[in-house]
Amino acid sequence: MTNPAKQLDDDAIVLLTEDHKKVKKLFADFAKLAKGDGTDKAKAEAVRAICLALTIHAQAEEKIFYPAVRAVIKDDDLMDEAHVEHAGVKSLIAQLHAMEPAHDHYDATVTVLGEMFDHHVKEVEDKMFPKAKKAKVDIDALGAALMQRKHELLAERGEAE
Ligand SMILES: [Fe+2]
Repeated sequence: MTNPAKQLDDDAIVLLTEDHKKVKKLFADFAKLAKGDGTDKAKAEAVRAICLALTIHAQAEEKIFYPAVRAVIKDDDLMDEAHVEHAGVKSLIAQLHAMEPAHDHYDATVTVLGEMFDHHVKEVEDKMFPKAKKAKVDIDALGAALMQRKHELLAERGEAE
């Protein structure tokens, strides 16, 4: 259960770290279905959940967190790589949207997307967050902005929280 009152107070690093954990769990759920005998319908639903969570996360992170961090950490290479990684994630999500679970490369595409996401998590949590903290990015204000952006993105898609 999410606790909205608690989330309102969470800073950007707490929120993004929670997002990362949530998305990793969704990939683990899919892996179980793929290894076991998950039906195509169950797999498609798991992938829908992954793509939605990942898209909202990436868009909020990219529009709210990255620009604020880029402005202060003076590491354009790290930020450029983060953008290119997001572009790779978006491209695989688009490929998955066009694929049925019966497709030969369906499971492999989800697996590779999960590996790209794992890499993203390492880069952001191990490199970007420490630099953002050191540069005294206002993670409290960014946390509130991230929450608001996520609400808007979900509402635009007609999705419940
Ligand atoms: Fe992220």
